[in-house]
Amino acid sequence: MKKRILVVSSANMDFVQRVVRIPDGGETVVESLGYSYIPGGKGANSALAFARLGADAVFCTKMGKDENARRLKKLYGEENIDTRFIAEDREAPTGLASIIVEEESGQNRIIVYPGANNNLLENDIEEAFNCYPDGVFVQFEIPDKAVFAAARFAKERGIPLFVDAGPAREDFQLEKLLQVEILSPNEKECEILTGITPDSVENCLKACIRLASSVSCKYVVLKLGRRGCFVYDGKYYNIVPGHKVNAVDTTAAGDVFTAALSYAYLQKGDILEAARFANIAGAICVSREGASTSIPTLAEIKEFAQELKNKKR
Ligand code: RIB
Repeated sequence: MKKRILVVSSANMDFVQRVVRIPDGGETVVESLGYSYIPGGKGANSALAFARLGADAVFCTKMGKDENARRLKKLYGEENIDTRFIAEDREAPTGLASIIVEEESGQNRIIVYPGANNNLLENDIEEAFNCYPDGVFVQFEIPDKAVFAAARFAKERGIPLFVDAGPAREDFQLEKLLQVEILSPNEKECEILTGITPDSVENCLKACIRLASSVSCKYVVLKLGRRGCFVYDGKYYNIVPGHKVNAVDTTAAGDVFTAALSYAYLQKGDILEAARFANIAGAICVSREGASTSIPTLAEIKEFAQELKNKKR
């Protein structure tokens, strides 16, 4: 059956430039290969991923009363995302992200102007819970108190909470997430939250133990980029290897990975199968440019999985 996911998170318009190289401090480089405006925002990327995977995606966020908001809402509508709980901010503009993508590595640098995302209120979130979700998904690109309110409402209603720990801050109070089904930081976020770089099996395990001691969670899944992911269930761990693809742009890969992981897990309850599925979703995402433009559909993930099977034969 189709599961309903409530995404309580951010929406941005991304201003993206592809560059030959990132300038040093104080340096001007006239080497941009081009620019574009692409719908993004961690929450929106994940909501789009849920929708493209076939979930019933409900998006709770806040946007300005401006042209960017109109463009973003139009896209969400076309992608069958439920937009009833997108609040409008009459003063602050829609969030904007400046993204620089280095051509050779596909690595990005992102600066976010949060705008209306910063004004998402507890009331807006409480209202969104009227959609009766099967799962709630949060990231940290909205105010902490909004994240904690979503966590509290989820716990009170007995709804599983999925947490993509981006963007992370050292002083983020993980314990206020109360009860988490899956907590998933990437390498950088893991380092910020635990002080441990997940560069070896031993360090991944140490970091997971530290995270699991900060907040009650069923699974910690570390996103390790091309290395795949590290799954910890409070007792045992598994390493689920990633896939070699031509990395064109890593933007949104983490948002897509965690959405795919959460959705597959919610559907079947098998964390390792969900991790394999999410690794494919993330791999497809990095092989394409942009945020919303790079998110795969369920059919594309199935096709990739089939190709992997064929190669093994
Ligand atoms: O995770 C990628 C996203 O981070 C971008 O789309 C940008 O908007 C920022 O939120």
